[in-house]
Amino acid sequence: MAIKAFILDLDGVITDTAEFHFQGWKRLAEEEGIEFTRDDNEALRGVSRRRSLEILLGEHQDDYSEEEMQEMMDRKNGYYQDLLKQMTDDDLLPGARELLNTLKESGFKIAVASASRNAKTVLNSLKITDEFDTISDGHSVDNPKPAPDIFVHTADKLGVKPEESVVIEDAEAGVEAALAAEMTAVGVGPEERVGKAHYRYDSTADIDVEEILA
Ligand code: G6P
Ligand code: MG
Repeated sequence: MAIKAFILDLDGVITDTAEFHFQGWKRLAEEEGIEFTRDDNEALRGVSRRRSLEILLGEHQDDYSEEEMQEMMDRKNGYYQDLLKQMTDDDLLPGARELLNTLKESGFKIAVASASRNAKTVLNSLKITDEFDTISDGHSVDNPKPAPDIFVHTADKLGVKPEESVVIEDAEAGVEAALAAEMTAVGVGPEERVGKAHYRYDSTADIDVEEILA
């Protein structure tokens, strides 16, 4: 079946917010006396805010009540939102603007499907909100990636079938979600992270749309 739509993840595909997320989580971890390294941060790629906190706390999770968990998520999000204030349209990843142009010129529907509840703020800072036919974010569905829900919901909003949709993702959880949604999965990043995708490229700038459509 012919491809009609491209659904793009945001963090790690269009822009790189991983460093800001890391700084936010690192500050929280230090305040709580928990060790958290840049390496540990890799496990949070594409993962929801709550799941990220659970991974960060690890065995310490049982020491915290639901109210304390909520407060820590809010605290980290405050740090993250402060860092986001520095973001401008210079922070598009190399190749992102070109990719959007190519997809638009070819007549595809394009959407963002991000686990982030800050996705709309990020898209506004990047000045690309109007490029998309629809935007799904961390508020759109209950079950986060690796569940297929956010991609199924996005394809529904675009009025296309899963088999007419291509998902571009940098996270293992995102690739799993795309495959579970029975869409064409394009991974951005190393083999060990996104190797299960139908197509894999090292970076956004390397994505070859013609190859995906062939
Ligand atoms: C993206 C990022 C994750 C982040 C998640 C939730 O998927 O890759 O690292 O945890 O969004 O972000 P939020 O802005 O809602 O805390
Ligand atoms: Mg991502």
